[in-house]
Amino acid sequence: EMKKVTCTAPVNIAVIKYWGKQNEELILPINSSLSVTLHQDQLKTTTSAAASREFTEDRIWLNGKEENISHPRLQSCLREIRRLARKRRNEEGDENVSRILNDKVHICSVNNFPTAAGLASSAAGYACLVYTLAKLYGVEGELSEIARQGSGSACRSMYGGFVQWVMGERDDGKDSLAKQVEPESHWPELRVLILVATAEKKHVGSTAGMQTSVETSPLLKLRADLVVPERMEAMIESIRKKDFKAFGELTMKDSNQFHATCLDTYPPIFYLNSVSQRVISVVHQYNTYYGQTKVAYSFDAGPNAVIFMLEPTVNEFVEVVKHCFPPESNGDTYLKGLPVGSAV
Ligand code: DP6
Repeated sequence: EMKKVTCTAPVNIAVIKYWGKQNEELILPINSSLSVTLHQDQLKTTTSAAASREFTEDRIWLNGKEENISHPRLQSCLREIRRLARKRRNEEGDENVSRILNDKVHICSVNNFPTAAGLASSAAGYACLVYTLAKLYGVEGELSEIARQGSGSACRSMYGGFVQWVMGERDDGKDSLAKQVEPESHWPELRVLILVATAEKKHVGSTAGMQTSVETSPLLKLRADLVVPERMEAMIESIRKKDFKAFGELTMKDSNQFHATCLDTYPPIFYLNSVSQRVISVVHQYNTYYGQTKVAYSFDAGPNAVIFMLEPTVNEFVEVVKHCFPPESNGDTYLKGLPVGSAV
């Protein structure tokens, strides 16, 4: 007989960016970060995991294609979940856990958005993998610590709403965990618009990019030590008070500083393209026209823009985007007005 579970996990977008590790293996960051979890309707990963005596080896399929299960990060997640399951069997003597620990697993994961577009697919992917395996093995507890070992940003997708990844102080990473700042119900008027500037595969992946930045960028070290600690406090306060001006301005400044550290990396890394630069200028012009911060952009390791705004601004700003970036002319697409979402 076979045991099977299926779960979905949301994408998250960092408004205080994680960039740089102090421990590559455990994935311990050089600074804390904070993100908004997106609603699952439009951007999510769905993962099924099955365990059976019939299976002769662990196997994984991503978007229909079989991938190598021996990837170190996949192995970390599998090993940690199985460790928790063994602990539970030893403490409670659970027969079912005992049986499943002898089985191999088959895992199958799909995104409902293009992986190549660089829309934080690893975050939703590893969050979903860890949660699905935990359900399969019947284990509970601090799962963000395990998701973190798959991909740093994945630990934040274990919670909905507004989530901080506290960098922690311990060498073993036991206190480098995600914590919910506020649930998604806290700020229901907040909306997220995603502008896909290109579906091309990004040039430098986050893992390799941040490695080079840690090695070569003096600005990154200053950012981590002197800028981010204060920004974390200010960002949490802006969210608690639902102060969009403070939230939006900090979001844009932090995205800009992250891309400045990329430019300060040697050789430099460019994630923004000419479309991204036009988006930045349209956002600032829009805010200047109204004399207040109504929209705010953020960019990760790619040219796609994530735009934050409050609900009453969505329709008008979508019109502005359509006018400035006609979809038929360049093939660009955009998704509309997602609310803040819930956890896996
Ligand atoms: C720019 O979490 O993808 O999106 O830990 O090496 O898997 P690894 O990196 P990853 O990096 C995300 C970088 C970012 C900022 C963020 O999400 O905080």
